[in-house]
Amino acid sequence: MHMDAFIDRLPKAELHCHIEGTLEPEMMFEMAARNGVPLAYQSVQAVRDAYQFERLQDFLDIYYQGMAALRVERDFYDLARAYLEKAEAQRIRHLELFFDPQAHVSRGVPFAAVVGGLSAALQSAQRDFDISARLIMCFLRHLDQRDAFNTLEMAKPHREQIAGVGLDSSERGHPPEKFTEVFAQARAQGYRCVAHAGEEGPPEYVWGALDALQAERIDHGNAALADERLLARLAEQAVPLTLCPLSNVKLRVIDDLADHPLKQMLDLGLHVTVNSDDPAYFGGHLNDNYRAIAAALDLGPVVLAQLARNSVSASFADAPRRRALLAEIDAYMSARATH
Ligand code: HPA
Ligand code: ZN
Repeated sequence: MHMDAFIDRLPKAELHCHIEGTLEPEMMFEMAARNGVPLAYQSVQAVRDAYQFERLQDFLDIYYQGMAALRVERDFYDLARAYLEKAEAQRIRHLELFFDPQAHVSRGVPFAAVVGGLSAALQSAQRDFDISARLIMCFLRHLDQRDAFNTLEMAKPHREQIAGVGLDSSERGHPPEKFTEVFAQARAQGYRCVAHAGEEGPPEYVWGALDALQAERIDHGNAALADERLLARLAEQAVPLTLCPLSNVKLRVIDDLADHPLKQMLDLGLHVTVNSDDPAYFGGHLNDNYRAIAAALDLGPVVLAQLARNSVSASFADAPRRRALLAEIDAYMSARATH
């Protein structure tokens, strides 16, 4: 079987995808028109042409602009439903979606419209595609902890719809320790905890995510490669890392995919996974990330299946679902071996 077809049909989970980062320019224009929201660009092509980034902040500036088109519950439903249809086509069997409530509430969009639209779409995908999915609410780290506490408070009536909390936005200058108390409070309320760390920030931020925030997974974590003690800790505790290869190239975290740390991390025994981050902005969906990293680092089907297994075992799906999906991957690999 050719590699493309192998990847396309491989059952897998995605654990690091920002729903606002799946907003394609076509849908951005459609929603802006129906909501009467002015956009800074004249055409879909002009939007795509603007997606040239030197660093994380360049992307974030455009990402926060783009989401201005999202105004009402239906927009959040349509956005998530469109991504879930793409997930189905890529054989994503379980999906965890980040969302940024502060970026919407600050524009006057009710918290309930965001969560209502997203969770209705997730339910529709469970029903129509047998895709299990979870929502993870991220705190914006460029804002202060007070704002994160307000967000946690707003989430109270929606506790059952949200599996976890995360931390995203501008990393440098905003260490995890800034959010120690709000993560402790979230954990006490039963939320799972993850955090972006070591994308642009130093290894110290990965330590902070583990020790101060008690993050169960690290989103990105590239910088860990520069710290041997940290690598040992990540390996020993089998802390999952949600790597995003095409994102790293687009945001200049690395110059070339051939320099990506994924293979070294795998060889060190780390629990690494492949993810798309913000697919509408970074030029590739999840299977494009699998294809690109396989080609750049010369990974074969056995390693790719291991990455898929890692994605399932690191997920917040319940234990029976994780077992069932691991069995799907095993069945896929044995069927392949006997052909
Ligand atoms: N890093 C930090 N914040 C983000 C990202 C990212 O890659 N995508 C959306 N918000
Ligand atoms: Zn991210």
